[in-house]
Amino acid sequence: MRMYDIILKKRNGGELTGEEIDFFVEGYTKGEIPDYQASALMMAVYFRKMTEGETLALTMAMAHSGDMLDLSGIRGVKVDKHSTGGVGDKTSIALAPMVAACGIPVAKMSGRGLGHTGGTIDKLESFPGFSTGLSKSQFIENVNRIGIAIMGQTADLAPADKKLYALRDVTATVDNMSLIASSIMSKKLAAGADAIVLDVKTGSGAFMKAEDDARALAEEMVKIGKNAGRRTIAVISDMDQPLGFAVGNALEVREAIDTLNGRGPEDFTKLCMTLGSQMLLAGGRAGSVEEAEGLLKEAVKDGSALSRLADFVEAQGGDSSVVYHPEKLPRASVVLPVAAPVSGFVSRIACDEVGVCSLILGGGRETKESVIDLSVGLVLQKKTGDYVRAGEPLAFLHANDEGKAREAEKRFLAACSIADAAPEKTPFIKAVIS
Ligand code: URA
Repeated sequence: MRMYDIILKKRNGGELTGEEIDFFVEGYTKGEIPDYQASALMMAVYFRKMTEGETLALTMAMAHSGDMLDLSGIRGVKVDKHSTGGVGDKTSIALAPMVAACGIPVAKMSGRGLGHTGGTIDKLESFPGFSTGLSKSQFIENVNRIGIAIMGQTADLAPADKKLYALRDVTATVDNMSLIASSIMSKKLAAGADAIVLDVKTGSGAFMKAEDDARALAEEMVKIGKNAGRRTIAVISDMDQPLGFAVGNALEVREAIDTLNGRGPEDFTKLCMTLGSQMLLAGGRAGSVEEAEGLLKEAVKDGSALSRLADFVEAQGGDSSVVYHPEKLPRASVVLPVAAPVSGFVSRIACDEVGVCSLILGGGRETKESVIDLSVGLVLQKKTGDYVRAGEPLAFLHANDEGKAREAEKRFLAACSIADAAPEKTPFIKAVIS
């Protein structure tokens, strides 16, 4: 088999066989196929697209390019949750303890943030001492003992995807539906869960800006999961404005703790309930959405979800007293209000721009090497559709540097629009696809 023939076949609109896809993935992972040939194939795929069969073959080949995590040592149905990424997305920190308190084990691999979106691991490091550097046996033991463990993605999990994603990133071939779906699903399949619940975001802060694209991606991933024999459900949720009010690592942890105390923002609580219900259904813990929501609400009300978070933080070396005393979380030295310039209804909050404000304040990573400030970020005071009077705060900026705060303030004001009429309300949960 020759890589040249595979590129030519795809360039001419042909359908690649499983053997041809395996040949490419294996050869590229081993370094036998050079970047220029892999780039040419990715560009051919970008223009010619891939069939359902090709997409599944690529996913499976990338999933099997490294370790396939064996979670059979964990009792019960393992349900993983994955978000396509957004701004203010602290979901796993509240959701994992809620679901675990209802009897569903959560064995999760998470990532760090890059660019305007944050990562769960960075957020969790707001608990002093917290570490995701667990061995595989510790990971499995922790899940069996307390119901949750989160570890960083190991280098040998879907290495083909790691290499190919980095290549796509610099060759303008990221935004192809089959390539995105196979990239995400290869990692999820390799991570070993029995069932997968996907949170596919749509809107200005999401990877998929248009709802139709988010739906197509969700459908593609659900199909891959099903064809790979894993129960897969996708929820499409709004990311046209930040999730909840808080954006920034420690600020988001605080909001997740508030949510576990029953005082969470409406949209964030709704998302946890929707994803949590699907996780309990997939795990066989509930027979209907109503029953699942009842169990999740009870876990919040009786404090078991909150104490599960404390157990999890402690088991991974963190200071669990912070769960009950969130005032101990890292705090910024300056809190600056951003005043509304005029009165009216907030008609738009450009979500990706709010992520950039947090980045400017030091809360995100511009490059993989950047060191982040866990204490900084923003807390919105108004969301889309709210009325604001001139001079009232739209948000509070939490900063450790006045200059950066002024820059973020300008950027934040440019990200917000205020209008005379209230904008049309759109549903927060757009669809559940199974
Ligand atoms: N996230 C991924 O993991 N892969 C993609 O291709 C796009 C987003």
